[in-house]
Amino acid sequence: MKKRIVVLASGRGSNFQAVVNALKSGKISGSCVSLITDNPNAYAIERAREAKIPVIVIDYTSFSTREDYEQALLSAMHRVNADLFILAGYMRILGNSVVSAFPGRIVNIHPALLPSFTGLHAQRQAVQNGVKISGCTVHFVDDSLDGGPIILQHCVVVKENDDEDSLAERILKYEHKCLPEAIRLFCEDRLEIIGKRVRIH
Ligand code: GRF
Repeated sequence: MKKRIVVLASGRGSNFQAVVNALKSGKISGSCVSLITDNPNAYAIERAREAKIPVIVIDYTSFSTREDYEQALLSAMHRVNADLFILAGYMRILGNSVVSAFPGRIVNIHPALLPSFTGLHAQRQAVQNGVKISGCTVHFVDDSLDGGPIILQHCVVVKENDDEDSLAERILKYEHKCLPEAIRLFCEDRLEIIGKRVRIH
């Protein structure tokens, strides 16, 4: 049976687009049944409309507390009846009520080689720390910050004259490959979480 996929994105949505393209071309056997966004101005919304994917906007700024926002998000996530949720440039930390409701069913793309450079501005952290290699990581989401079991990683060389933007651009190209590839493996039931590790069958 085809997996039902829901993407959460807050902005530009190029990773969302990469997943949509991979679904459309048949590389991934699944269907994207909704885009959920916390940002009514996200460009990802245009991409969803273009691909005829329903959009659910849960505007973070319209809630008075974080708990209320999370409650609304959680009920939307239950309603869409998804097998898999993808955080593709979703810029908020998911609270424990959300993460614990969908164990092993939420994945995130992060623009660094985890466990290095968690949180925001991972590419800036890489440049500032002078690392020679960075990259991207697709991982399952648990209650730690960017610390869940790693599915796939790809390394990218940091050049001497790189700044945050040039490095981000180079890493992004690999995000667009790694994320659909990890989703493909998930949809083919080839991922098994064993403690902190992911075994690929
Ligand atoms: C990506 O670099 C992703 O890894 C990070 O935020 C960026 C989102 O880009 N979490 P886009 O919205 O997918 O274009």
